[in-house]
Amino acid sequence: MILEGLERLEYRGYDSAGIAVIDDGALRITKAGGKLEVLNGLTRGGTTLPGFAGIGHTRWATHGVPNEVNAHPHYNTAKTIAVVQNGIIENYVALRKRLISKGYQFVSETDTETVAHLLDLYYKGNPLEAVIKVLQHIEGSYALSILFADQPDVVYGVRKGCPLILGIGEDGNFMASDVTAILKHTRRVIYPGEMEIVELKADGVRIVTMDEEEVTHEITEVAWDISAAEKGGYKHYMLKEIMEQPRVVRDTLSPRIRDGRIVIEELGMSDEELSRVRRVFMVACGSAYHTGVTGRYIFENLARIPVETDLASEFIYRDPLLDRDDLVVVISQSGETKDTLDAVKIAREAGCKVLAIVNVVGSTIARESDFVMYTQAGPEISVATTKAYSAQLIALYLLAMKFAEVRGFLHGRKLKSMLDDLMKLPEQIELMLGNRDKVQRIANRFIAARDVFFIGRGIDYAISLEGSLKLKEISYIHSEAYAAGELKHGTIALMEEGSLVAAVSTQPALHAKLLSNIVEVKARGAIIFSVTTMGNREIEEASDFCVTLPETNPLFANSLAIIPLQMLAYYISDGRGCDVDKPRNLAKSVTVE
Ligand code: F6R
Repeated sequence: MILEGLERLEYRGYDSAGIAVIDDGALRITKAGGKLEVLNGLTRGGTTLPGFAGIGHTRWATHGVPNEVNAHPHYNTAKTIAVVQNGIIENYVALRKRLISKGYQFVSETDTETVAHLLDLYYKGNPLEAVIKVLQHIEGSYALSILFADQPDVVYGVRKGCPLILGIGEDGNFMASDVTAILKHTRRVIYPGEMEIVELKADGVRIVTMDEEEVTHEITEVAWDISAAEKGGYKHYMLKEIMEQPRVVRDTLSPRIRDGRIVIEELGMSDEELSRVRRVFMVACGSAYHTGVTGRYIFENLARIPVETDLASEFIYRDPLLDRDDLVVVISQSGETKDTLDAVKIAREAGCKVLAIVNVVGSTIARESDFVMYTQAGPEISVATTKAYSAQLIALYLLAMKFAEVRGFLHGRKLKSMLDDLMKLPEQIELMLGNRDKVQRIANRFIAARDVFFIGRGIDYAISLEGSLKLKEISYIHSEAYAAGELKHGTIALMEEGSLVAAVSTQPALHAKLLSNIVEVKARGAIIFSVTTMGNREIEEASDFCVTLPETNPLFANSLAIIPLQMLAYYISDGRGCDVDKPRNLAKSVTVE
């Protein structure tokens, strides 16, 4: 059961893994470096570890190299207490020194081992008391699951700044960092609050505060089912998720368009409040940040409202000038990204309202924000995001249009035509997916590429950023995105015979400009793969390979143009024999800074 759960979570980290169970009053622990399959083999599919209660972990190294010793669970010297942890114990160095001075011996380089020894120090027969004492001493953000050998039917858990959910099943209860780990057994979930201590037993759950006061939380029914978290016949999750995009876009879109109007119920602000917003900040990381870059162009164009898009890791340290009339929009698939979560806290402290565009229901960012607009992408398993990215774009289009409407810039024929174009997107994405074989043939030509340059202007620059990230993160080919007008300020020096340039040109007003850039790099020997609007003969003819887009409002072109770029990255990665769904050094949910 634990192995199966870990398999679902492997996308969060997969450089080592381990399991601890209580069997006959003793802890049995098996750990292994490498992917989960190594642990699976070592425990013969879990059969060497019989037990009634247990914990497991897949690791993505933050402290200490990925190997068996540093893998979780960590335990005290007597092997009577075992701990698994996500996050970081920030004061672990000081704690470790203190524990060593008391005679404790450390075997690993991890911060987590500190927790095991601290528990040992404070455990005098009352586990709850020991856990509370430990929590008073550790700093950082973490989620912990703990076993005490002499409490054979209980798993203890606690979270602070990291996710931890409880599953209420028919034949037992569960604790996990993500609902996908337990979906096979139950959809009934409890979200414990920060610093609440959970005592999980097969037949019940008790949750108490640091003052040992009992708290209760509602049970939420999760709508996802297990098939949504399986491969469904595709070779990789990433391909399955790419192919799911028409549905995801439709699901994110349709409930929010009613009788020719945009209705965003989750946005708990009246039209008047919306029209009072002076500035919008969009804050996110990675691909989610790229949707924010697109969002900025669309908001400014449609709603004539100033937008700043910022990387969360920069935003949180630049002392941003925030005003109470500003709206901060954070974007996150997992809803757990630490930097983005910190941005939420900073914005709320400054008195701003925070709207989160999030995929995972009940995630920390969703819970910490004032308003949540859920993307309906379902569980995204592949580390490289595709369908969640597409759903985020849709949420941003709707939001920008809503702002434009209440500010008086979007109504009548223009609104109707944009809504029509929006509603056509799922079908048009389907059409773009029809280029699959063509893109695969093109990808085959570039399997040995050393560098790829993505160029575009305006929204096409935002698309290029995402196309480039997709390629580099799963194929390990060096790639960069440039605002095409910047090429001549330095990067063009890198162009030589055979350089591969992916040119994105979906904005009719900028076609001529991009054509000039294509011609410039071609003259230096570059090979051009272009993505452009249908009928754009000049760019098609100037390119060696071209994929075209059906007609849509140029502001929505990102949703179509990204499809061939996602497929290009996928097929190049697969063709190079890379582990598409679990690229090296990456984790799906980045809950550390
Ligand atoms: C890239 C990718 C990452 C995430 C980033 C933010 O394919 O998936 O760049 O977009 O780590 O993650 P979330 O959206 O969960 O906050």
